[in-house]
This record gives sequence, C-alpha cells and structure tokens, in this order.
Amino acid sequence: MTHKKQTLGEFIIENQSSFQYSSGELSSLLNSIRLAAKVVNHEVNKAGLVDIIGAAGDTNIQGEDQQKLDVYANDKFIQTLTKRNIVCGIASEEEDDFVAINSQDENHQNKYVVLIDPLDGSSNIDVNVSVGTIFSIYRRVTPVGTPVQLEDFLQKGSEQVAAGYVVYGTSTMLVYTTGDGVNGFTLNPAIGSFYLSHPDMQFPEDGNIYSVNEGNYIHFPQGVKNYIKYCQEEEEDRPYTSRYIGSLVSDFHRNMIKGGIYLYPQSSKNPNGKLRLLYECNPMAFLAEQANGKSSDGFTRTMDVEPTELHQRVPFICGSKNMVEKAEEFMRNAK
Ligand code: AHG
Ligand code: MN
Ligand code: MN
Repeated sequence: MTHKKQTLGEFIIENQSSFQYSSGELSSLLNSIRLAAKVVNHEVNKAGLVDIIGAAGDTNIQGEDQQKLDVYANDKFIQTLTKRNIVCGIASEEEDDFVAINSQDENHQNKYVVLIDPLDGSSNIDVNVSVGTIFSIYRRVTPVGTPVQLEDFLQKGSEQVAAGYVVYGTSTMLVYTTGDGVNGFTLNPAIGSFYLSHPDMQFPEDGNIYSVNEGNYIHFPQGVKNYIKYCQEEEEDRPYTSRYIGSLVSDFHRNMIKGGIYLYPQSSKNPNGKLRLLYECNPMAFLAEQANGKSSDGFTRTMDVEPTELHQRVPFICGSKNMVEKAEEFMRNAK
C-alpha cells in the first residue's frame, strides 16, 4: 500500500485551526522558518567544501566577506523573518541586543517576537558532526503598532506559542510544537520539501542514556555527581549508556527518540550553567513537555523561571520524565 506523506506546508495549514489565535499569521511565520531552514541546510551541507570552492582570501565571488556559518545562519533567519509583516522583533544568540522590526511604522500589525539560536553546536561544524537551529515564538505583550520592548522578549517559557528546532544531521529534520504535541518533518533534499516522518513524538517515560559533559565532573554540585554515580551503578537496568554529542539539538533529538536525559548543570566555574534560557532551554523545555518529557534546573520547572536578561543562563536538566525526576531527587537530597 502506498501512503502519501504530508508535507510540512500542508501540515501547517491543516493544523492552523487548532491554534488558539488561528489567523494564519503563525502559519506564515512557521513557513518563513521552514524556508530559512532549507537555505541554512544548503550552506551547512557544503561546510567542508569552503576551502576547496571558496574564493581566494576571505571574500566570495560577489565580493562579500565569507562568513562563519553561525553568522550566516543568523543573517538568513533574520532576513527571512523580517520580510513578512508578522514579527516585530528578534532576539538571537548572535546579537547583543534584540533587533526591532518596523519600529518606525505606526501602522504595522506585527504581533510576534522570535528568539533564536541560529546555529547550535557550532563547534561541531569543523568535524562534520550534526548541528542545529533552535527557535522560540511569543506574542508580544506591549501594544501592537508600538516599538517592540525588552519585556516582549523576557516572557516566561510557559507563555511560548510555538517552539522547535532544525537538526542538520545525517538527514535534516524540522521538529516543532504549537502546544498540541510535537511533530517531526524530514527534508527530502532532492525535492526540497519537508515531509511528516515523525508524527506525535514522545519521550519514552524511562530511558538508559545520560548525556552530560563529564569532563566538568569535578566542578559539578554534589547532587549531580551523585546522580552520575547512580547512572553508572550496576543494577538491573544500569549502568546506563553515556552519549554526548556537544550539540544540544542533536543530544535532545536522540534522547527524545530513544529515551534519555540531558544535563548541563551549574558548576563552580559557571554558577548558572552554560545554556541560555530564552533561546536554548525554554524552547527545548516546551518541546519536552509537549512530548511527555520534563525539564528543570534541578529544582524549578524551566518554563517557570522569570527571565531577567536576554542572554541569561540557567542550569538545564531535560528528558524522559522518570529520569529527570530521579535527578531532581538527587539534587534535593544533596542540598
Ligand atoms: P552554541 O554552539 O550555540 O554556542 O551552543 C553550544 C552548546 C550546546 O549546543 C551544547 O550542548 C553545549 O554548548 C556544549 O557545551 P560543552 O562543550 O561545554 O559541553
Ligand atoms: Mn547553542
Ligand atoms: Mn549558537
């Protein structure tokens, strides 16, 4: 029996009505992310060729400076998101401050803000290992038609209206939620379309993979150290398997499919951890909860953390529900 797979474009339109503010604007916004993802994918996939086909020096054939891929990805996402009159502001890992859109035009109706990590895991680019893009979408809280403000970006994760990631891996996938479950789409590069390949993704409640940069063990809080030792103990279902790519998107994606836990804890060197609340942890937390998983800093639900600055960092523990709860138990007991 042949079974026609739904494209991402079809899926976005068909599911538009289940979104509480279904006006077509969010669909259009998701479509611009879909478009930028394809453009960035194309560039990521020829990363190894840059030295071979790149023009001499640091400039390309049009005389533009050859850019690092994370700057390239940042520019492409910002350009694409700016074109349609939907987004009033963008915050990005690559921008010190947020970018305001149409702030001089009093008639604009742009309602959404987008926060992005344009290229996550970028240290993996040079070694041909998977990288990703993470995005998070909110409705602005200040009045439409006025210039976007910092407070439009500093919303709690629980206010997100959509979030997702693109993983540029052995295949390229776009995975997202609008608060009604998580769906994954795989790019067919020959055709240039994403197809629904992973409907209704769910974290298994339990798992046997733990993902943490164990090189930092000595600097971890006692609760995390104890949990890592627990993962390594000889028991019926343990020791667990250790898998760490060093690219949050890829580590999360694997754990969601196979069952596992990702930890980037605070350390004596980085008291708030490394990962950024607004464009790394919150979107992943939204996806995790929508996929029956869990996310916290060890004590507080990630999406309940009150943001105070754009590039704020938080400790991050995320994955299969029972595993995250076990890690939280170790954190509480070590206090
Ligand atoms: P980015 O490339 O956007 O700066 O993010 C890298 C992040 C995350 O993707 C990854 O899980 C983590 O940094 C790895 O950090 P360590 O190398 O310290 O383990
Ligand atoms: Mn990142
Ligand atoms: Mn990045």
